[in-house]
Amino acid sequence: SDNTAVGADGMLTVGGCSVADVAAEYGTPVFVYDEAHLRSRCREAVGAFGPERVIYATKAFLCRAMARLAYDEGLLLDVASGGELHVAMSAGVPASACTLHGNNKSVAELRQAITAGVRHIIVDSFDELDRLDMLAAEGCGPTPQVVLRITPGVSAHTHEFIATGQDDSKFGFNLGNGDAVKAVDRARRSTSVDLVGVHCHIGSNVFEASSFAKAAEVMANFAVPLDLPELVLGGGLGVAYVAGEEAPTITQWGNVLLDACDALGVRSRVSVEPGRSIAAAAAMTIYTVGTIKTIPGVRTYVSVDGGMSDNPRPVLYGSGYESFLPRAVDAPRDLTARLVGKHCESGDVLSFEARLPTDIAVGDLLAMPVTGAYGQSMGSNYNKITRPPVVFCADGDAKLVVRRETFDDLLATDIYP
Ligand code: LLP
Repeated sequence: SDNTAVGADGMLTVGGCSVADVAAEYGTPVFVYDEAHLRSRCREAVGAFGPERVIYATKAFLCRAMARLAYDEGLLLDVASGGELHVAMSAGVPASACTLHGNNKSVAELRQAITAGVRHIIVDSFDELDRLDMLAAEGCGPTPQVVLRITPGVSAHTHEFIATGQDDSKFGFNLGNGDAVKAVDRARRSTSVDLVGVHCHIGSNVFEASSFAKAAEVMANFAVPLDLPELVLGGGLGVAYVAGEEAPTITQWGNVLLDACDALGVRSRVSVEPGRSIAAAAAMTIYTVGTIKTIPGVRTYVSVDGGMSDNPRPVLYGSGYESFLPRAVDAPRDLTARLVGKHCESGDVLSFEARLPTDIAVGDLLAMPVTGAYGQSMGSNYNKITRPPVVFCADGDAKLVVRRETFDDLLATDIYP
């Protein structure tokens, strides 16, 4: 992240805080966020796209401190469930700054959103339009402004689990088969909704800016003749996880998208929903090495005190991560090892081919960078492991924003018959 350095004692610091001190105070594993980095990414996005044009995708990482930070930096919030809306609003973010997503929003979630008065509901299906008719008849709130999610038929060159723009998708109205036009017609005729625009999201962790430009073009060609003012082009900008990867910056992404939209005459109507590119590189996870085992001629296993419960991405998507020792940031990393967690299955891998210093020892702290998005938010308490805390570091101050779960938390929802 922006504000990592090595302290006088040789130990890695984040936002002016020694990683060893944070680990000593809050234990490991711990998510350590560079707060200033989060703020700079928010500012970069608002600088690139304009005020009220950046909608932070809270699914990437959400707690009240994060919701507030994004809102205070001038971002709107994209929530994908009633729960995300609840957390955002609990942080004092007004519903009018939130947009609601989801391919299967429940009646309760739609009612919650309408009653609260969200900015937009991103409508995903004909069934959802039926539900909105039903809720309008019930009269639970003002007529909602809606945006229709369209699958533009653009492929995003990413992992198939996170590609969403192709025709064969559970999301949105198909452009190719005429559903998108039908949905626009129906929404226009309906008195239950106020149609204000269209949306697409082609996928996540996308590195090719040209895919976004292509989607923008397809969407603009659809929206302009229909005179639909709002053009929401989703998130999806990739980040570099491992050495050698290079992703476009938010500014470059903005330039490519807005240039394409300029040419189509829709520049001023565009908004985006970045998640990963705001949060991922802001955090690293700090673990403690617990066991090291070498099977001669086979491999070395290094086990840490977390695993798939705080970062399921390697298991789910085969994602790569770097890892290093905060006490020896610049040391050569000549040991190739499999970095694993403490869960009771062999699939519990954090890094299939981790490169680590040969003098790594039990008790060492281990840092895994770029874990700020879709780690904590997709975490679980599998094996009844308590979820790690989240600490925001800035100007030498380490602020606890999510505490570690306790054993009592594990029993909080448990009803013993
Ligand atoms: N907007 C919509 C409608 C989305 O579905 C998503 C992500 C975003 C915005 C934010 O996309 P981002 O800028 O973060 O790429 N768990 C997966 C990622 C799933 C993304 C789902 N939708 C992962 O860890 O890679």
